[in-house]
Amino acid sequence: MKNYGIIVHGGAWDWPDELDAQKIPDLTHAVTLGRDILARGGSALDAIEQAVNHLEDAPTFEAGTGVPPNRNGVAQLDALIVDGKTHDFGSVAAVERVKNPITLARKVMEETAHCMFVGAGADELARELGIPLIPNIELVDEKSWRAFVERDESVLKPQWGKSQPLSHDTVGAVAIDQNGNVAAATSTSGSPFKPAGRVGDAPLLGSGGFAMNGAGAVSCTGNGENIMRLLLAKYASDKMAEGMTAQQAADAAVAYIGSVYPNPMTGMIIVDSHGNLGFASSTPKIAVAWTDGDSIKTAFRA
Ligand code: GLY
Repeated sequence: MKNYGIIVHGGAWDWPDELDAQKIPDLTHAVTLGRDILARGGSALDAIEQAVNHLEDAPTFEAGTGVPPNRNGVAQLDALIVDGKTHDFGSVAAVERVKNPITLARKVMEETAHCMFVGAGADELARELGIPLIPNIELVDEKSWRAFVERDESVLKPQWGKSQPLSHDTVGAVAIDQNGNVAAATSTSGSPFKPAGRVGDAPLLGSGGFAMNGAGAVSCTGNGENIMRLLLAKYASDKMAEGMTAQQAADAAVAYIGSVYPNPMTGMIIVDSHGNLGFASSTPKIAVAWTDGDSIKTAFRA
């Protein structure tokens, strides 16, 4: 088995190639933070939380701060963290006043008797657990706010009805530590200008993420509705439990969703229980960075 490994993603859709350069520093820094924890014997959970915290703080991605608001001009954030060792998870949805929802999700898992909190109750829990609440407007990125204020229909309109969102910049991380424990984290503001209250795959166990020692860990990105209809992260985990490697399971899961939906707009990152890393997408681009202890690598196409 490889000693440890971590892979992160910053979404999957069809962005212009010139944006790749903007994403590289934050993707590599997120992997570096996780790698440093794993290299000194830290846990997969700590590594993915730190990596995702960094991606949440980076305005380049649609998670944490710097995100598009919903149709009502409000940022609503979702996050999920899964511990493959204990089979426990924590998740939050439609959070409006928390800068790092993945940390709140971890506190839900470790400091409460529950698994999932939503809306105002999740914000209230954050305050009770010592996470400072911030004004919602501090989460929203300026360009999207202007589009919202100006009612720019070229941006707002595609988010209605059955049409697909244009961008999917969800972030995620999966890792295996030196004790062979795997973990997964996914964090997002959901689809840009989504209807208020809409929640996608990201905070749902088995959809936006899954982790189980002996199989592996998975984090998904893309059109959440298709991913949650098929419990895609659990599907990929099951494939690893049957003996597939991380890359084989990623390819199988993306082929599966592509066989059900004509344009699924899906991507995922995976680590298997042997320490192999993999990623796949049905979109032209997916932003990933990874290391298994050697150099840090980035890629923008599966
Ligand atoms: N994959 C993120 C979402 O659809 O909300």
